[in-house]
Amino acid sequence: MKKISVIYWSGTGHTEKMAQALVEGIEKEGSEAKLLQVSGASLDDVKNADAVAFGCPAMGAEELEEEEMRPFIDQSKEVIRGKKTLLFGSYEWAEGQWMKDWAEEMKEAGADLLEAEGFIAYDDPDEDALDDLRMLGKDLARA
Ligand SMILES: Cc1cc2nc3c(=O)[nH]c(=O)nc-3n(C[C@H](O)[C@H](O)[C@H](O)COP(=O)(O)O)c2cc1C
Repeated sequence: MKKISVIYWSGTGHTEKMAQALVEGIEKEGSEAKLLQVSGASLDDVKNADAVAFGCPAMGAEELEEEEMRPFIDQSKEVIRGKKTLLFGSYEWAEGQWMKDWAEEMKEAGADLLEAEGFIAYDDPDEDALDDLRMLGKDLARA
């Protein structure tokens, strides 16, 4: 049974819903999901997991949330090499450039990305997006 950490930041709950759908998929596949807000996560949650999913909406000007998520991702990049990783998050104002940049950055750090450009959902994720995330959770558990 795989242990998968799902670590996220969410201001208004959209990315949190995405994280919960991922967890549903992971558990459906018989794996163990640890769902954590980034404020309560430690580097061990990344290091000791078989796979990891990071969630963060587009913030700033196409950036990660800077107080909690950015520093956590900077630390995680030091232990992410070779690890199966899924990036996800919600956006509203633009077209997802923050995720493209984030995926590129994680790839450079050596992460083994499940989705080459991450998975993004517009605003409050609809059922289609949540279903896609349940599938991705299963894929992550199988990977
Ligand atoms: C301070 C702030 C900055 C934002 N910057 C962007 C942005 O650069 N690009 C974008 O597409 N959406 C931007 N948004 C919109 C959020 O990404 C969007 O509302 C998202 O659904 C929030 O997800 P959450 O509920 O998980 O916090 C911003 C929102 C806030 C509050």
